[in-house]
Parts: sequence; C-alpha cells; structure tokens
Amino acid sequence: MSSSGRCWKHTGFNPTLFLLPTVIRFNFKGITLKVVGIIGGPKLDGNTYKLVRAVLDGALDAGHTVVTWKLRDIYIGHLGYFADELIPPIDDFEKMKADLESMGALVIGSPVWYGHVDTRTFNFINRTYVYNKHYSEENAKKWPKAKAVNVLTYGREEEDAYDNILDWYKMVWDNYGMTESINIVAAGTGDNPVEDRPELIERAKEIGRSL
Ligand SMILES: Cc1cc2nc3c(=O)[nH]c(=O)nc-3n(C[C@H](O)[C@H](O)[C@H](O)COP(=O)(O)O)c2cc1C
Repeated sequence: MSSSGRCWKHTGFNPTLFLLPTVIRFNFKGITLKVVGIIGGPKLDGNTYKLVRAVLDGALDAGHTVVTWKLRDIYIGHLGYFADELIPPIDDFEKMKADLESMGALVIGSPVWYGHVDTRTFNFINRTYVYNKHYSEENAKKWPKAKAVNVLTYGREEEDAYDNILDWYKMVWDNYGMTESINIVAAGTGDNPVEDRPELIERAKEIGRSL
C-alpha cells in the first residue's frame, strides 16, 4: 500500500515502465555506446537521411544511445589563419564537442556532390582538424577510439563509383586513431531510392546493431 493508503496498482504508477529503459540499454555484448549520427545533406526525407536513420535504428535496437546532428540546422564555420596560427571559428561545433568526445561510434551520411561529400560534410570534417595531433596533441587525446560508419548516397549506378571517397574517409579516421571505417553506399538513387530498397535498409540496420 502507498502512503496515501492506496496500492500502486490503483494509482496508475507501474514500476515496470520505470525499469524498462534500464533493461533495454544492455545489448548482447553488454556494452552501451553513444552513437553520434551526422546528416550532411540538406534533405530530411532524402536518401542519405533514411540510410543514416536505418543505421541509427539498428544501434537503438542493440541498446545504444543515439544522438543526431543535422548539419543543415547548425552553423559550422571555416578555419581561419592569422599571425602564423590556425584560428577555429566561433560556431556551433562547440556544441557538438561533448558528443564527439564521448562517442563510441560516428555515423556520418553524405550525398555525393560533384564527385565528393557534400559541402556541409566536407566543412565539418575540416572543422574536426582541431582534434588533429598536428593542431593540438592535447585535443587529439580527447577524440575517442571510436568506430566510423560512412554512409554515401549518389546518382551513379556503379557500387564502386566513389570508392575514392570511402578511401578518403578511412584516411581521415585512421589519422584520428578510429578503430574501424565501415562503409555503406546507396548507388543509383535516381531510379532506385533508398526507401524502395528494404534489403539495403536491413543491411544498414545490421551495421547499427553490430556496433
Ligand atoms: C549539387 C549536386 C551534385 C551532385 N553530384 C553528383 C555526382 O557528382 N555524382 C553522383 O553520382 N550523383 C550526384 N548527385 C546526386 C546525389 O548524390 C544523389 O541524388 C543523392 O542520393 C542525393 O541524396 P539525398 O536524397 O540525401 O539528397 C548530385 C546532386 C546534387 C544536388
């Protein structure tokens, strides 16, 4: 009986609802990661968003915590240079730092724009230079040894059309000491959008579940 003299069953309070979030946070490996999703392309119903979302859904299935940053909604400035020093801009990257420094996995999604990642993603990657050991040994220690998942969507039909971009991602992540660089691409999105490809969406979810 509660202090008001009524059993909790009659008060609408159900302790199992409080326990549930705790229970589902344990995945089969017993490790809960913070998974940071970054959407570079500007569309919120586009191919890139849907494929990143699928990876993050898989991560949620596995009990991980997911945080999403949409680059179109924030301002990431450009690195400057003055008096022999690289000058980081004052921008929203500062707000992302806590998530980046505590992540166990980074899921970064970009459409291909003129043969490379879209401009927001490219600028974001350059902005992470403040964690590069050449910029600051101290900052470099704060970048976690996390896994990277590179999500790339594009119009060309060939599955290997932009392997050079995936190699470039790996070079960047290796530089930051990240442990894995996992790729998933959606080629030919003009005729074959992500939403019509359940097997691709399932593959993306499986990547998320296996983080
Ligand atoms: C500005 C621009 C440039 C593009 N350049 C390329 C390209 O070089 N190669 C390619 O295969 N597709 C290119 N595309 C097509 C997109 O990569 C493709 O439609 C992508 O899946 C869009 O993703 P979204 O739906 O998330 O915006 C381009 C699209 C835009 C808007």
